Amino acid sequence: AKQQYHEFVIKEAAVTRLCKSQNIMTVNGQFPGPSLEVNEGDCLVVKVTNKGRYNVTVHWHGVRQMRTGWADGPEYVTQCPIRPGQSYTYRFTVQGQEGTLWWHAHSSWLRATVHGALIIRPRRGVAAYPFVNHGKPPVREIPILLGEWWNMNPIDVVRAATRTGAAPNISDAITVNGQPGDLYKCSSKDTTTFPVNSGETNLLRFINAALNTELFVSLAGHTMTVVGADASYTKPYATSVLMIAPGQTTDVLVTFDQPPGRYYLAARAYASAQGVPFDNTTTTAIFDYGASSSSTTSKSPAMPTLPAYNDTSAATAFTTSLRGLRKAELPSRVDENLFFTVGVGLFNCSQGQSCGGPNNTRFTASINNVSFVLPSAVSILQAHYHTTNGVFTADFPANPPVAFDYTAQNVSRGLWQPVPGTKVYKLKYGAAVQLVLQGTNIFAAENHPIHIHGYDFYILAEGFGNFDAAADTAKFNLDDPPMRNTVAVPVNGWAVVRFVADNPGVWLMHCHLDVHITWGLAMAFLVEDGVGVLQSLEAPPPDLPLC
Ligand code: C2O
Repeated sequence: AKQQYHEFVIKEAAVTRLCKSQNIMTVNGQFPGPSLEVNEGDCLVVKVTNKGRYNVTVHWHGVRQMRTGWADGPEYVTQCPIRPGQSYTYRFTVQGQEGTLWWHAHSSWLRATVHGALIIRPRRGVAAYPFVNHGKPPVREIPILLGEWWNMNPIDVVRAATRTGAAPNISDAITVNGQPGDLYKCSSKDTTTFPVNSGETNLLRFINAALNTELFVSLAGHTMTVVGADASYTKPYATSVLMIAPGQTTDVLVTFDQPPGRYYLAARAYASAQGVPFDNTTTTAIFDYGASSSSTTSKSPAMPTLPAYNDTSAATAFTTSLRGLRKAELPSRVDENLFFTVGVGLFNCSQGQSCGGPNNTRFTASINNVSFVLPSAVSILQAHYHTTNGVFTADFPANPPVAFDYTAQNVSRGLWQPVPGTKVYKLKYGAAVQLVLQGTNIFAAENHPIHIHGYDFYILAEGFGNFDAAADTAKFNLDDPPMRNTVAVPVNGWAVVRFVADNPGVWLMHCHLDVHITWGLAMAFLVEDGVGVLQSLEAPPPDLPLC
Protein backbone atom coordinates (compact mmCIF):
# COMPACT_ATOMS: atom_id res chain seq x y z
CA ALA A 1 0.00 0.00 0.00
CA LYS A 2 1.22 3.45 -0.76
CA GLN A 3 0.08 7.02 -0.48
CA GLN A 4 -0.83 8.90 -3.65
CA TYR A 5 -1.03 12.67 -3.75
CA HIS A 6 -3.04 14.57 -6.38
CA GLU A 7 -4.04 18.18 -6.90
CA PHE A 8 -7.40 19.00 -8.39
CA VAL A 9 -7.85 22.61 -9.45
CA ILE A 10 -11.48 23.36 -10.24
CA LYS A 11 -11.52 25.95 -12.99
CA GLU A 12 -13.30 27.03 -16.12
CA ALA A 13 -12.14 25.87 -19.53
CA ALA A 14 -13.52 26.55 -22.99
CA VAL A 15 -14.85 23.43 -24.68
CA THR A 16 -16.63 23.10 -28.03
CA ARG A 17 -19.27 20.43 -28.61
CA LEU A 18 -22.09 20.32 -31.18
CA CYS A 19 -20.51 23.41 -32.76
CA LYS A 20 -21.01 25.48 -29.64
CA SER A 21 -18.21 26.75 -27.46
CA GLN A 22 -18.83 27.12 -23.75
CA ASN A 23 -16.91 27.73 -20.58
CA ILE A 24 -17.44 24.69 -18.42
CA MET A 25 -16.19 23.78 -14.97
CA THR A 26 -13.36 21.25 -15.09
CA VAL A 27 -10.68 19.66 -12.97
CA ASN A 28 -7.25 20.86 -14.13
CA GLY A 29 -8.80 22.03 -17.41
CA GLN A 30 -9.63 18.42 -18.42
CA PHE A 31 -13.02 17.14 -19.55
CA PRO A 32 -13.71 14.43 -18.52
CA GLY A 33 -11.43 14.90 -15.55
CA PRO A 34 -8.29 12.92 -14.71
CA SER A 35 -8.51 9.16 -14.11
CA LEU A 36 -7.12 8.12 -10.76
CA GLU A 37 -5.56 4.67 -10.70
CA VAL A 38 -4.85 3.04 -7.36
CA ASN A 39 -4.25 -0.38 -5.92
CA GLU A 40 -6.47 -1.77 -3.22
CA GLY A 41 -5.10 -0.64 0.12
CA ASP A 42 -3.68 2.65 -1.18
CA CYS A 43 -4.28 5.92 0.59
CA LEU A 44 -5.45 8.78 -1.61
CA VAL A 45 -4.74 12.39 -0.70
CA VAL A 46 -6.42 14.84 -3.06
CA LYS A 47 -6.10 18.57 -2.52
CA VAL A 48 -9.05 20.30 -4.19
CA THR A 49 -8.64 24.02 -4.86
CA ASN A 50 -11.65 25.93 -6.09
CA LYS A 51 -10.70 28.50 -8.72
CA GLY A 52 -14.16 28.49 -10.24
CA ARG A 53 -17.16 30.70 -9.57
CA TYR A 54 -19.41 28.21 -7.79
CA ASN A 55 -19.21 26.44 -4.46
CA VAL A 56 -18.03 22.88 -5.00
CA THR A 57 -17.31 19.58 -3.25
CA VAL A 58 -15.95 16.29 -4.60
CA HIS A 59 -17.51 12.90 -3.84
CA TRP A 60 -15.62 9.62 -4.30
CA HIS A 61 -18.59 7.64 -5.54
CA GLY A 62 -18.68 4.14 -4.07
CA VAL A 63 -15.59 4.45 -1.88
CA ARG A 64 -16.61 3.07 1.49
CA GLN A 65 -14.78 5.75 3.49
CA MET A 66 -14.53 3.55 6.58
CA ARG A 67 -14.53 5.99 9.53
CA THR A 68 -13.48 8.81 7.18
CA GLY A 69 -16.92 10.30 6.50
CA TRP A 70 -15.31 13.78 6.39
CA ALA A 71 -13.87 12.83 3.01
CA ASP A 72 -17.15 11.62 1.48
CA GLY A 73 -18.06 14.97 -0.07
CA PRO A 74 -21.82 15.61 -0.48
CA GLU A 75 -22.28 19.29 0.28
CA TYR A 76 -24.09 20.15 3.52
CA VAL A 77 -24.21 16.44 4.40
CA THR A 78 -20.59 15.66 5.36
CA GLN A 79 -18.99 19.05 4.74
CA CYS A 80 -19.69 22.65 3.86
CA PRO A 81 -18.84 23.52 0.26
CA ILE A 82 -15.38 24.63 -0.79
CA ARG A 83 -15.96 28.25 -1.71
CA PRO A 84 -14.21 29.99 -4.62
CA GLY A 85 -10.64 30.67 -3.53
CA GLN A 86 -10.60 27.93 -0.87
CA SER A 87 -9.08 24.43 -0.72
CA TYR A 88 -9.85 21.21 1.10
CA THR A 89 -7.77 18.03 1.16
CA TYR A 90 -9.63 14.72 0.97
CA ARG A 91 -7.76 11.82 2.62
CA PHE A 92 -8.97 8.26 2.56
CA THR A 93 -7.90 4.67 2.08
CA VAL A 94 -9.41 2.47 -0.62
CA GLN A 95 -9.91 -0.87 1.09
CA GLY A 96 -11.76 -4.08 0.34
CA GLN A 97 -12.96 -2.88 -3.07
CA GLU A 98 -11.60 -3.64 -6.54
CA GLY A 99 -12.84 -2.58 -9.95
CA THR A 100 -14.21 0.68 -11.25
CA LEU A 101 -15.54 3.59 -9.26
CA TRP A 102 -15.49 7.27 -10.06
CA TRP A 103 -15.42 10.72 -8.54
CA HIS A 104 -17.71 13.66 -9.19
CA ALA A 105 -18.70 17.08 -7.93
CA HIS A 106 -21.51 16.84 -5.35
CA SER A 107 -22.88 20.39 -5.55
CA SER A 108 -25.87 21.40 -7.65
CA TRP A 109 -25.39 19.97 -11.16
CA LEU A 110 -21.65 20.57 -11.41
CA ARG A 111 -21.02 16.87 -11.81
CA ALA A 112 -22.19 17.23 -15.44
CA THR A 113 -18.63 18.20 -16.31
CA VAL A 114 -16.68 17.66 -13.07
CA HIS A 115 -16.14 13.90 -12.98
CA GLY A 116 -13.59 11.20 -13.73
CA ALA A 117 -12.75 7.53 -13.26
CA LEU A 118 -11.32 5.94 -10.11
CA ILE A 119 -9.76 2.61 -11.02
CA ILE A 120 -8.89 0.19 -8.25
CA ARG A 121 -6.56 -2.67 -9.16
CA PRO A 122 -5.78 -5.61 -6.89
CA ARG A 123 -3.33 -5.03 -4.07
CA ARG A 124 0.25 -4.60 -5.26
CA GLY A 125 2.21 -7.81 -5.56
CA VAL A 126 -0.36 -9.82 -3.65
CA ALA A 127 -3.45 -10.40 -5.72
CA ALA A 128 -4.48 -10.64 -9.36
CA TYR A 129 -7.80 -10.28 -11.16
CA PRO A 130 -10.07 -13.24 -10.49
CA PHE A 131 -10.89 -13.40 -14.20
CA VAL A 132 -8.59 -14.53 -16.97
CA ASN A 133 -9.24 -15.17 -20.61
CA HIS A 134 -7.46 -18.14 -22.17
CA GLY A 135 -5.16 -17.99 -19.19
CA LYS A 136 -4.22 -14.36 -19.76
CA PRO A 137 -5.28 -11.14 -18.06
CA PRO A 138 -6.71 -8.42 -20.33
CA VAL A 139 -4.08 -6.81 -22.54
CA ARG A 140 -5.49 -3.31 -22.26
CA GLU A 141 -7.91 -1.53 -19.93
CA ILE A 142 -10.12 1.21 -21.28
CA PRO A 143 -12.15 3.54 -19.03
CA ILE A 144 -15.36 4.61 -20.81
CA LEU A 145 -17.29 7.46 -19.22
CA LEU A 146 -20.84 7.94 -20.48
CA GLY A 147 -22.16 11.44 -19.87
CA GLU A 148 -24.59 14.14 -20.91
CA TRP A 149 -23.92 17.46 -22.60
CA TRP A 150 -26.04 20.62 -22.47
CA ASN A 151 -25.72 23.50 -24.93
CA MET A 152 -26.16 25.64 -21.86
CA ASN A 153 -24.53 25.91 -18.44
CA PRO A 154 -26.07 23.02 -16.43
CA ILE A 155 -26.19 25.26 -13.34
CA ASP A 156 -28.44 27.66 -15.27
CA VAL A 157 -30.57 24.69 -16.40
CA VAL A 158 -31.25 23.62 -12.82
CA ARG A 159 -31.67 27.19 -11.53
CA ALA A 160 -34.32 27.91 -14.14
CA ALA A 161 -36.13 24.72 -13.21
CA THR A 162 -36.10 25.36 -9.46
CA ARG A 163 -37.32 28.91 -10.01
CA THR A 164 -40.30 27.82 -12.05
CA GLY A 165 -41.09 24.38 -10.67
CA ALA A 166 -41.05 22.96 -14.18
CA ALA A 167 -38.97 20.02 -15.33
CA PRO A 168 -35.47 21.07 -16.44
CA ASN A 169 -34.36 20.91 -20.06
CA ILE A 170 -33.12 17.55 -21.14
CA SER A 171 -29.53 17.34 -22.33
CA ASP A 172 -28.53 18.00 -25.92
CA ALA A 173 -26.36 14.91 -26.27
CA ILE A 174 -25.25 11.73 -24.59
CA THR A 175 -21.46 11.44 -24.68
CA VAL A 176 -18.67 8.85 -24.62
CA ASN A 177 -15.56 10.16 -22.88
CA GLY A 178 -16.92 13.68 -23.36
CA GLN A 179 -17.68 13.33 -27.09
CA PRO A 180 -21.23 13.12 -28.52
CA GLY A 181 -20.14 11.00 -31.48
CA ASP A 182 -20.69 11.24 -35.20
CA LEU A 183 -24.43 10.56 -35.33
CA TYR A 184 -25.10 14.01 -33.88
CA LYS A 185 -25.25 16.99 -36.16
CA CYS A 186 -22.09 18.98 -36.21
CA SER A 187 -20.21 16.31 -34.34
CA SER A 188 -18.30 14.21 -36.87
CA LYS A 189 -14.95 15.26 -35.45
CA ASP A 190 -16.16 14.80 -31.88
CA THR A 191 -16.02 11.02 -31.86
CA THR A 192 -13.93 8.92 -29.53
CA THR A 193 -11.93 6.20 -31.28
CA PHE A 194 -10.46 3.24 -29.45
CA PRO A 195 -7.73 1.44 -31.40
CA VAL A 196 -7.74 -2.32 -30.80
CA ASN A 197 -5.68 -5.27 -31.97
CA SER A 198 -7.14 -8.40 -33.52
CA GLY A 199 -7.33 -11.31 -31.12
CA GLU A 200 -6.71 -9.30 -27.97
CA THR A 201 -8.95 -9.26 -24.94
CA ASN A 202 -9.49 -5.86 -23.34
CA LEU A 203 -11.20 -4.82 -20.14
CA LEU A 204 -13.71 -2.02 -20.71
CA ARG A 205 -14.56 -0.08 -17.56
CA PHE A 206 -17.93 1.62 -18.13
CA ILE A 207 -19.11 4.44 -15.88
CA ASN A 208 -22.52 6.05 -16.25
CA ALA A 209 -21.77 9.66 -15.32
CA ALA A 210 -24.90 10.99 -17.06
CA LEU A 211 -27.01 13.27 -14.91
CA ASN A 212 -30.47 11.99 -15.62
CA THR A 213 -30.35 9.04 -17.97
CA GLU A 214 -30.16 5.30 -17.53
CA LEU A 215 -28.42 3.90 -20.59
CA PHE A 216 -28.42 0.84 -22.81
CA VAL A 217 -24.94 0.11 -24.18
CA SER A 218 -23.96 -2.24 -26.97
CA LEU A 219 -20.89 -2.94 -29.12
CA ALA A 220 -21.50 -4.05 -32.72
CA GLY A 221 -20.47 -7.61 -33.47
CA HIS A 222 -18.93 -8.34 -30.08
CA THR A 223 -20.03 -10.14 -26.97
CA MET A 224 -19.34 -8.44 -23.67
CA THR A 225 -18.60 -10.56 -20.61
CA VAL A 226 -19.49 -8.71 -17.42
CA VAL A 227 -16.95 -9.41 -14.65
CA GLY A 228 -17.63 -6.58 -12.22
CA ALA A 229 -20.09 -3.88 -11.23
CA ASP A 230 -19.64 -0.98 -8.78
CA ALA A 231 -16.18 -2.29 -7.77
CA SER A 232 -17.41 -5.76 -6.78
CA TYR A 233 -16.64 -8.79 -8.92
CA THR A 234 -19.48 -10.67 -10.56
CA LYS A 235 -19.73 -14.17 -11.97
CA PRO A 236 -18.88 -13.82 -15.68
CA TYR A 237 -22.02 -13.00 -17.63
CA ALA A 238 -21.98 -12.83 -21.43
CA THR A 239 -24.37 -10.37 -23.06
CA SER A 240 -24.79 -8.14 -26.09
CA VAL A 241 -26.38 -5.28 -24.16
CA LEU A 242 -25.70 -3.58 -20.84
CA MET A 243 -28.04 -1.38 -18.84
CA ILE A 244 -26.12 1.05 -16.69
CA ALA A 245 -27.89 3.55 -14.45
CA PRO A 246 -26.34 6.88 -13.41
CA GLY A 247 -23.86 6.19 -10.63
CA GLN A 248 -23.26 2.59 -11.66
CA THR A 249 -20.17 1.09 -13.26
CA THR A 250 -19.84 -2.14 -15.24
CA ASP A 251 -16.58 -3.90 -16.12
CA VAL A 252 -16.65 -6.13 -19.18
CA LEU A 253 -14.14 -8.27 -21.07
CA VAL A 254 -14.25 -8.09 -24.85
CA THR A 255 -12.22 -10.26 -27.18
CA PHE A 256 -11.66 -8.53 -30.51
CA ASP A 257 -12.21 -11.64 -32.60
CA GLN A 258 -14.23 -10.19 -35.50
CA PRO A 259 -13.09 -9.44 -39.05
CA PRO A 260 -10.83 -6.36 -38.93
CA GLY A 261 -12.89 -3.22 -39.32
CA ARG A 262 -14.59 -0.47 -37.39
CA TYR A 263 -17.37 -1.19 -34.91
CA TYR A 264 -19.64 1.26 -33.17
CA LEU A 265 -20.05 1.29 -29.45
CA ALA A 266 -23.47 2.92 -28.98
CA ALA A 267 -25.46 4.10 -25.97
CA ARG A 268 -29.00 5.37 -25.75
CA ALA A 269 -31.45 6.24 -22.98
CA TYR A 270 -33.52 3.65 -21.20
CA ALA A 271 -36.40 5.76 -19.90
CA SER A 272 -39.69 4.03 -19.53
CA ALA A 273 -41.50 6.76 -17.61
CA GLN A 274 -44.77 7.79 -19.15
CA GLY A 275 -45.18 11.48 -19.80
CA VAL A 276 -41.58 12.30 -19.05
CA PRO A 277 -39.36 13.62 -21.80
CA PHE A 278 -36.55 11.29 -22.72
CA ASP A 279 -33.57 11.61 -24.95
CA ASN A 280 -33.83 9.15 -27.82
CA THR A 281 -30.57 10.19 -29.41
CA THR A 282 -27.66 7.79 -29.69
CA THR A 283 -24.06 8.43 -28.80
CA THR A 284 -21.31 6.51 -30.52
CA ALA A 285 -17.63 5.77 -30.27
CA ILE A 286 -15.61 3.62 -32.66
CA PHE A 287 -13.56 0.52 -31.94
CA ASP A 288 -11.07 0.37 -34.76
CA TYR A 289 -8.99 -2.73 -35.57
CA GLY A 290 -6.95 -0.85 -38.09
CA ALA A 291 -6.57 2.63 -36.70
CA SER A 292 -3.06 2.75 -38.15
CA SER A 293 -3.84 1.32 -41.60
CA SER A 294 -6.12 3.05 -44.10
CA SER A 295 -7.67 -0.13 -45.53
CA THR A 296 -10.68 -0.35 -43.24
CA THR A 297 -11.43 3.31 -42.59
CA SER A 298 -13.57 4.06 -45.64
CA LYS A 299 -16.54 1.85 -44.80
CA SER A 300 -18.88 3.22 -42.18
CA PRO A 301 -18.71 1.32 -38.91
CA ALA A 302 -21.09 -1.52 -38.07
CA MET A 303 -23.97 -0.41 -35.84
CA PRO A 304 -25.23 -2.55 -32.93
CA THR A 305 -28.91 -3.08 -32.22
CA LEU A 306 -30.00 -1.29 -29.06
CA PRO A 307 -33.24 -2.05 -27.20
CA ALA A 308 -36.03 0.52 -27.53
CA TYR A 309 -36.04 3.37 -24.99
CA ASN A 310 -38.90 1.74 -23.09
CA ASP A 311 -37.72 -1.88 -23.22
CA THR A 312 -38.10 -2.67 -19.54
CA SER A 313 -37.70 -6.40 -20.14
CA ALA A 314 -34.25 -5.85 -21.68
CA ALA A 315 -33.25 -3.68 -18.70
CA THR A 316 -34.55 -6.18 -16.16
CA ALA A 317 -33.05 -9.15 -17.98
CA PHE A 318 -29.67 -7.51 -17.57
CA THR A 319 -29.92 -6.35 -13.96
CA THR A 320 -31.39 -9.61 -12.69
CA SER A 321 -28.70 -11.71 -14.40
CA LEU A 322 -25.85 -10.33 -12.31
CA ARG A 323 -24.52 -12.60 -9.55
CA GLY A 324 -21.86 -11.88 -6.99
CA LEU A 325 -18.63 -13.81 -7.50
CA ARG A 326 -18.25 -14.66 -3.86
CA LYS A 327 -20.75 -16.18 -1.52
CA ALA A 328 -22.71 -13.48 0.22
CA GLU A 329 -21.56 -12.65 3.73
CA LEU A 330 -24.99 -11.88 5.01
CA PRO A 331 -25.95 -11.95 8.64
CA SER A 332 -28.88 -14.29 9.20
CA ARG A 333 -30.64 -11.70 11.35
CA VAL A 334 -32.33 -8.47 10.27
CA ASP A 335 -32.23 -5.78 12.97
CA GLU A 336 -33.81 -3.00 10.97
CA ASN A 337 -36.51 -3.82 8.46
CA LEU A 338 -37.18 -0.63 6.52
CA PHE A 339 -39.71 0.09 3.79
CA PHE A 340 -39.07 3.27 1.81
CA THR A 341 -41.19 4.60 -1.02
CA VAL A 342 -39.27 6.44 -3.73
CA GLY A 343 -41.11 8.64 -6.16
CA VAL A 344 -41.85 11.89 -7.88
CA GLY A 345 -45.01 13.93 -7.44
CA LEU A 346 -46.46 17.40 -7.61
CA PHE A 347 -47.12 20.11 -5.05
CA ASN A 348 -50.16 22.29 -5.60
CA CYS A 349 -48.97 25.85 -5.58
CA SER A 350 -50.99 28.54 -3.89
CA GLN A 351 -51.68 31.87 -5.51
CA GLY A 352 -48.82 34.29 -5.66
CA GLN A 353 -46.18 31.58 -5.82
CA SER A 354 -44.34 31.32 -9.06
CA CYS A 355 -45.04 27.81 -10.11
CA GLY A 356 -44.26 26.78 -13.65
CA GLY A 357 -45.12 23.10 -13.44
CA PRO A 358 -48.24 21.48 -14.92
CA ASN A 359 -51.58 23.07 -13.74
CA ASN A 360 -49.94 25.46 -11.28
CA THR A 361 -48.02 22.73 -9.55
CA ARG A 362 -44.33 22.23 -9.02
CA PHE A 363 -42.41 18.99 -9.18
CA THR A 364 -41.28 17.44 -5.96
CA ALA A 365 -39.89 14.05 -4.98
CA SER A 366 -39.68 12.21 -1.70
CA ILE A 367 -38.86 9.10 0.28
CA ASN A 368 -41.66 8.03 2.66
CA ASN A 369 -43.31 11.38 1.96
CA VAL A 370 -40.31 13.35 3.20
CA SER A 371 -38.82 15.67 0.62
CA PHE A 372 -35.21 16.15 1.64
CA VAL A 373 -33.91 19.63 2.41
CA LEU A 374 -30.19 20.29 2.82
CA PRO A 375 -29.17 22.44 5.77
CA SER A 376 -27.23 25.60 4.96
CA ALA A 377 -25.35 26.76 8.06
CA VAL A 378 -23.45 23.58 8.84
CA SER A 379 -23.28 20.04 7.45
CA ILE A 380 -25.31 17.27 9.08
CA LEU A 381 -22.13 15.37 9.96
CA GLN A 382 -20.64 18.42 11.70
CA ALA A 383 -23.90 19.02 13.56
CA HIS A 384 -23.94 15.38 14.67
CA TYR A 385 -20.27 15.34 15.70
CA HIS A 386 -20.49 18.57 17.69
CA THR A 387 -24.06 17.83 18.91
CA THR A 388 -25.38 21.06 17.45
CA ASN A 389 -29.17 21.14 17.80
CA GLY A 390 -31.65 22.46 15.29
CA VAL A 391 -29.90 21.30 12.11
CA PHE A 392 -31.68 17.97 11.56
CA THR A 393 -34.15 15.68 13.29
CA ALA A 394 -33.74 11.92 13.75
CA ASP A 395 -37.37 11.09 12.98
CA PHE A 396 -37.16 9.81 9.43
CA PRO A 397 -39.98 7.23 9.25
CA ALA A 398 -39.19 3.50 8.86
CA ASN A 399 -42.36 3.10 6.77
CA PRO A 400 -44.58 5.37 4.69
CA PRO A 401 -47.23 7.16 6.80
CA VAL A 402 -49.99 5.30 4.96
CA ALA A 403 -49.86 2.13 2.95
CA PHE A 404 -51.61 2.30 -0.42
CA ASP A 405 -51.43 0.74 -3.85
CA TYR A 406 -48.10 2.33 -4.78
CA THR A 407 -47.97 1.31 -8.40
CA ALA A 408 -51.62 1.84 -9.35
CA GLN A 409 -52.35 4.58 -11.86
CA ASN A 410 -54.18 7.68 -10.65
CA VAL A 411 -53.20 7.26 -7.01
CA SER A 412 -55.13 9.76 -4.91
CA ARG A 413 -52.90 12.67 -4.02
CA GLY A 414 -54.60 12.80 -0.65
CA LEU A 415 -52.59 9.70 0.24
CA TRP A 416 -49.39 11.45 -0.57
CA GLN A 417 -48.55 14.95 0.60
CA PRO A 418 -44.80 15.29 0.97
CA VAL A 419 -43.39 17.32 3.82
CA PRO A 420 -40.06 19.07 3.40
CA GLY A 421 -37.54 18.21 6.09
CA THR A 422 -33.95 17.47 7.06
CA LYS A 423 -34.60 14.10 8.65
CA VAL A 424 -32.16 11.26 9.27
CA TYR A 425 -32.73 7.62 10.20
CA LYS A 426 -30.52 6.51 13.08
CA LEU A 427 -28.85 3.11 12.91
CA LYS A 428 -26.96 1.42 15.70
CA TYR A 429 -23.39 0.48 14.83
CA GLY A 430 -23.40 -3.08 13.48
CA ALA A 431 -27.15 -3.28 12.81
CA ALA A 432 -28.18 -5.60 9.96
CA VAL A 433 -30.37 -3.46 7.74
CA GLN A 434 -32.86 -4.68 5.17
CA LEU A 435 -34.33 -2.00 2.99
CA VAL A 436 -37.25 -2.38 0.61
CA LEU A 437 -37.20 0.39 -2.00
CA GLN A 438 -40.69 0.70 -3.43
CA GLY A 439 -41.21 2.84 -6.52
CA THR A 440 -44.44 4.85 -6.64
CA ASN A 441 -46.67 5.96 -9.47
CA ILE A 442 -47.93 9.24 -7.99
CA PHE A 443 -46.98 11.42 -10.91
CA ALA A 444 -45.64 8.72 -13.23
CA ALA A 445 -43.85 5.45 -12.74
CA GLU A 446 -40.13 5.92 -13.25
CA ASN A 447 -36.82 4.20 -12.73
CA HIS A 448 -34.86 5.37 -9.73
CA PRO A 449 -31.17 4.50 -9.42
CA ILE A 450 -30.82 4.63 -5.65
CA HIS A 451 -27.30 5.20 -4.31
CA ILE A 452 -26.18 4.83 -0.70
CA HIS A 453 -23.03 6.64 0.40
CA GLY A 454 -20.47 4.87 2.60
CA TYR A 455 -21.84 1.38 1.92
CA ASP A 456 -21.97 -1.45 -0.56
CA PHE A 457 -25.12 -3.52 -0.29
CA TYR A 458 -26.35 -6.85 -1.55
CA ILE A 459 -29.31 -6.73 -3.94
CA LEU A 460 -31.48 -9.64 -2.80
CA ALA A 461 -34.34 -9.27 -5.27
CA GLU A 462 -36.25 -6.93 -7.49
CA GLY A 463 -39.70 -7.12 -9.00
CA PHE A 464 -42.75 -5.30 -10.30
CA GLY A 465 -45.89 -4.02 -8.61
CA ASN A 466 -46.14 -3.68 -4.85
CA PHE A 467 -43.61 -5.57 -2.73
CA ASP A 468 -45.40 -8.45 -1.07
CA ALA A 469 -43.45 -9.45 2.03
CA ALA A 470 -44.85 -12.98 2.22
CA ALA A 471 -44.47 -13.97 -1.43
CA ASP A 472 -41.41 -11.93 -2.37
CA THR A 473 -39.19 -12.82 0.58
CA ALA A 474 -39.17 -16.36 -0.79
CA LYS A 475 -37.45 -15.03 -3.95
CA PHE A 476 -34.47 -13.51 -2.12
CA ASN A 477 -31.08 -14.56 -3.40
CA LEU A 478 -29.17 -15.09 -0.16
CA ASP A 479 -26.48 -17.13 -1.87
CA ASP A 480 -24.72 -15.05 -4.55
CA PRO A 481 -26.49 -11.68 -4.76
CA PRO A 482 -24.57 -8.92 -6.56
CA MET A 483 -23.00 -6.27 -4.35
CA ARG A 484 -23.38 -2.69 -5.54
CA ASN A 485 -23.58 0.89 -4.34
CA THR A 486 -26.41 1.91 -6.69
CA VAL A 487 -29.51 -0.15 -7.43
CA ALA A 488 -31.77 0.60 -10.38
CA VAL A 489 -35.21 0.27 -8.76
CA PRO A 490 -37.35 -0.92 -11.66
CA VAL A 491 -40.13 1.21 -13.07
CA ASN A 492 -43.41 0.36 -11.33
CA GLY A 493 -41.55 -1.99 -9.03
CA TRP A 494 -39.26 -2.53 -6.08
CA ALA A 495 -35.82 -3.72 -5.00
CA VAL A 496 -34.62 -5.15 -1.70
CA VAL A 497 -31.09 -4.52 -0.42
CA ARG A 498 -29.22 -5.56 2.72
CA PHE A 499 -26.13 -4.21 4.44
CA VAL A 500 -24.49 -4.12 7.87
CA ALA A 501 -24.18 -0.64 9.37
CA ASP A 502 -20.46 -0.98 10.12
CA ASN A 503 -19.38 2.51 9.07
CA PRO A 504 -20.11 5.32 11.52
CA GLY A 505 -21.09 8.70 10.12
CA VAL A 506 -23.81 10.42 8.14
CA TRP A 507 -24.51 8.78 4.80
CA LEU A 508 -26.70 10.24 2.12
CA MET A 509 -29.04 7.96 0.19
CA HIS A 510 -30.55 9.41 -2.95
CA CYS A 511 -31.78 8.90 -6.46
CA HIS A 512 -28.79 9.36 -8.77
CA LEU A 513 -30.92 11.18 -11.35
CA ASP A 514 -29.87 14.72 -10.43
CA VAL A 515 -33.26 16.08 -11.37
CA HIS A 516 -34.79 13.89 -8.65
CA ILE A 517 -32.25 14.80 -5.97
CA THR A 518 -32.95 18.44 -6.82
CA TRP A 519 -36.62 17.75 -6.08
CA GLY A 520 -35.83 16.06 -2.75
CA LEU A 521 -35.51 12.32 -3.47
CA ALA A 522 -32.93 11.82 -0.73
CA MET A 523 -32.50 11.07 2.98
CA ALA A 524 -29.56 10.32 5.24
CA PHE A 525 -28.64 7.47 7.57
CA LEU A 526 -26.90 8.44 10.78
CA VAL A 527 -24.82 5.47 11.89
CA GLU A 528 -23.80 5.83 15.50
CA ASP A 529 -20.29 5.07 16.73
CA GLY A 530 -19.57 1.57 17.94
CA VAL A 531 -17.47 0.59 20.91
CA GLY A 532 -13.81 1.54 20.78
CA VAL A 533 -11.74 3.76 18.58
CA LEU A 534 -11.75 1.42 15.55
CA GLN A 535 -15.51 1.66 15.41
CA SER A 536 -15.83 5.39 15.70
CA LEU A 537 -15.69 8.27 13.29
CA GLU A 538 -12.33 10.01 13.07
CA ALA A 539 -12.02 13.63 14.21
CA PRO A 540 -12.68 16.25 11.52
CA PRO A 541 -9.63 17.40 9.53
CA PRO A 542 -8.39 20.90 10.45
CA ASP A 543 -9.08 22.33 6.97
CA LEU A 544 -12.72 21.13 6.82
CA PRO A 545 -14.57 24.05 5.16
CA LEU A 546 -17.00 26.10 7.20
CA CYS A 547 -20.28 27.33 5.79
CU1 C2O B 1 -22.52 9.60 -7.06
CU2 C2O B 1 -24.38 11.19 -3.83
O1 C2O B 1 -23.46 10.43 -5.44
